[in-house]
Amino acid sequence: GFNKAAKSLSPKRYFGTAADIPGTGENQDPYYMAELNNTKDFGQLTPANIMKWYATEPEQGVFNYTGGNDFLALAEANGQIVRCHNLVWYNQLPYWLTNPTTNWTAATLTAVMENHITNLIEYWGDRCYAWDVVNEALNDDGSWRETIFYEVIGPSYFDIAYKTAQAAVKAKGLKVKLYYNDYNIEYPGNKSTAAQNLVKGLQSQKIKIDGVGLQSHFIIGETPSQATQESNMAAFTGLGVDVAVTELDVRSPNLPPTAAQETQQKADYQSTVGACANTQRCVGVTVWDFDDTYSWIPSTFPGQGYGDLFFQPGGPDTPLVKKVAAD
Ligand code: XIL
Repeated sequence: GFNKAAKSLSPKRYFGTAADIPGTGENQDPYYMAELNNTKDFGQLTPANIMKWYATEPEQGVFNYTGGNDFLALAEANGQIVRCHNLVWYNQLPYWLTNPTTNWTAATLTAVMENHITNLIEYWGDRCYAWDVVNEALNDDGSWRETIFYEVIGPSYFDIAYKTAQAAVKAKGLKVKLYYNDYNIEYPGNKSTAAQNLVKGLQSQKIKIDGVGLQSHFIIGETPSQATQESNMAAFTGLGVDVAVTELDVRSPNLPPTAAQETQQKADYQSTVGACANTQRCVGVTVWDFDDTYSWIPSTFPGQGYGDLFFQPGGPDTPLVKKVAAD
């Protein structure tokens, strides 16, 4: 069961969840909140949205820390560590940054990026266990994703982001770990190899990179086997960095799932948790929220869902049911 799997990770590894608070109905739902605050199940939290660029720098140079502070305060009151997410991503950017009439140059956009990274790392300091510095820089074939940063600055934006993060860590004497985070790098292939090359590229320039986040948004029955996930993790840890499972969910491609799919889902969750447990430098597993009621899946993948550990058969604000009995 999930509890047993979580226990096998503890205390050396964390088991945690993303949460979309404050800002959604989750934090109004007493049943959801009781489970979020259940530190036997969750020793780590990731803010699903509230530390993203649109939320933290809604106007150029004007930072809003309120939501992030509230999130950290909740986690700290529970003794849960926090993976801070994220600093540089092509998505969920504020309009002042993406507005097509803004004529960014490499120099002006680099300055904007540096200011954002430095500000947030220094402000939240070691209240963050880790930061996802760059999120999703790659296409599935391993080429650079054509983000605003890539198009305006070129591929060097990546190294600049980590150099800037490293400087902030050094300036404040911080311990916070600096991560690269992406999906479809949980199994060997062009994208995983490209992510390993990003790590090597930073290392060859002596730029700090502490870990790689394997998002792990999987589909029932299409989850890579535990052995595959372990050998892929080994390819990263062999470079001298940590790995973490950062956004685990296992969605059903059809709704409702069949009984066979429900059984398979349990095995799929266990492959990923088991791969982490068997990998010395896998520091922990984070699920991308734990309750289907508030999952990002149905809006992003229409017709799909049932990906999380719990659901609420009675709808929002009713008791949670675990999909797999604790055993
Ligand atoms: C998702 C959030 O869960 C949604 O609420 C939001 O609308 C879009 O972003 N990869 C990531 C996360 O790194 O930041 C994404 O989170 C899910 C995919």
